[in-house]
Amino acid sequence: MPEVFEDAPWVRKDSLVVAHRLRTYYTIKPGLFAKPRYVKAVDDISLSIDRGITLAVVGESGSGKTTLGRTLIRLLEPISGEIYFDGNEITHMKEDDLKRIGFRRRVSMVFQDPYSSLNPFHSIHFILEEPLMVQGVPHEEREERIYRPLRRLS
Ligand SMILES: Nc1ncnc2c1ncn2[C@@H]1O[C@H](COP(=O)(O)OP(=O)(O)OP(=O)(O)O)[C@@H](O)[C@H]1O
Ligand SMILES: [Mg+2]
Repeated sequence: MPEVFEDAPWVRKDSLVVAHRLRTYYTIKPGLFAKPRYVKAVDDISLSIDRGITLAVVGESGSGKTTLGRTLIRLLEPISGEIYFDGNEITHMKEDDLKRIGFRRRVSMVFQDPYSSLNPFHSIHFILEEPLMVQGVPHEEREERIYRPLRRLS
């Protein structure tokens, strides 16, 4: 039996992505001396995502989907809870350490807007090759990683 959190038994601790009781609030300061208010955008979310699994998060506008996504990839820092990626706790990890453990290389957003993801002035080859070049992947491996998915599509 995989290990789970007692207070969130659907969360498997050995998953690739693990979030436990995550909370991300936005602080709003209405004025210099006014008391700050909080928008509880993500409030006590626990989930796990295994390798090869796609998780869809569905909810009405303003329910916190984008905030959850940005928290999981650590563009935002949660106010409480824990996030683990591939066995490393990354909840409050500093940017340098996120880079060091390969988190920033392995995890990123794919924007829904096709003009942000697929620049029509670039060839498909270049669009797929550019991130591999940034990561310093050698030429031969780049070609392999570009053509393998394209062959599957054709
Ligand atoms: N930078 C911010 N500062 C303050 N409040 C914010 C900020 N970004 C989002 N919010 C608020 O947090 C809540 C969750 O917003 P979020 O964008 O995560 O929702 P969403 O589910 O992605 O919505 P949509 O379906 O419209 O994309 C909303 O009430 C929103 O107004
Ligand atoms: Mg959104």
